[in-house]
Amino acid sequence: MTNNNMIFIANWKMNGEKSHISGINKTIKFLKQSKNKKNQIIYCPPFTLISSVKNKVKNTKIKVGAQNLSQLNDYGAFTGSVNSKLIKSAGGDYVIVGHSEIRNQENDILINKKIHSALKEKLKVILCIGETYKEKKNNKTLSVLKTQITIALKNIKKINNIIFAYEPRWAIGTGKIPKSSELRKNFKDINNIINKLKKNQKYKIIYGGSVNSKNVLELKKINDLKGFLIGSASLRAKNFIDIIKKSTN
Ligand code: PGA
Repeated sequence: MTNNNMIFIANWKMNGEKSHISGINKTIKFLKQSKNKKNQIIYCPPFTLISSVKNKVKNTKIKVGAQNLSQLNDYGAFTGSVNSKLIKSAGGDYVIVGHSEIRNQENDILINKKIHSALKEKLKVILCIGETYKEKKNNKTLSVLKTQITIALKNIKKINNIIFAYEPRWAIGTGKIPKSSELRKNFKDINNIINKLKKNQKYKIIYGGSVNSKNVLELKKINDLKGFLIGSASLRAKNFIDIIKKSTN
C-alpha cells in the first residue's frame, strides 16, 4: 500500500517531562522537508504537557490530543478529573477513549458517555477497540468488537470525527502483532460492523499495538489500514519518524 494520507498518533502514556518536548523539533523538521503533506500527526502527551506541546506545534499541521477524559461535561468538584472542556482549553484537538490500559476500569457505557462528551466540545475521538488474549483464544474477537463498537456508538449520529483504533489488547507493549490474515479479517469485520450501524459514513481505522519501524512494513500492507497508534516507539522522535517514513514510502 502506498499511502500519503495516513494518521500517526504518538501515545506517550505516563511519560514525558517538559524537556522531552524538544524531540518534537525533529518531527517538525522532518515534516517541513517531506514532500508528503497529507499525513496527519497527532501527539498525545500526558495532560500536564498538552499546552506546552500545543505551543511547540503551533505553526505546523501537527495536532495534540489527550489520553483520556472524564465523561462529565460540566465543571465541578471532581478532584483529579479532567473533562473535554479543560482539554479543549489546554489546546487539545483529539482525545483517546477506551484505551486498553484503562478498559478494565471502564465499561462500554462509560466509553459511550465519554465519546458524547468529547464530540460535544468538538474534540475528535480516537476510539480504541480490541480483544484480550483470552478472548482471541476463545474465538470471541468478533463478538467483543461488535459489542464494543455498538455500545460506543450508541446515539452518535455522525462518526466522521471518530478514528477507530484497532488495538488487540494482547499486542500492546508485548512486541507481538497479529498475523496478517488475522488482521485482514478483523479489519473486515470492523468495517462490516461500522457500516451496518452507520450507513454511508466516512471514518478511518488505524492499528495499534507494538508498532515499530521494522514491523510497520508488514502492517502497512493491510487494506483499509489508515495509520497507527504508537506507544513506546513514539517516545524517541527518531523511531517515530522512521515509522512515518516507512509507512508512506
Ligand atoms: P505500544 O502501545 O506501541 O507500546 O504497544 C500502543 C498503545 O498502547 O497505544
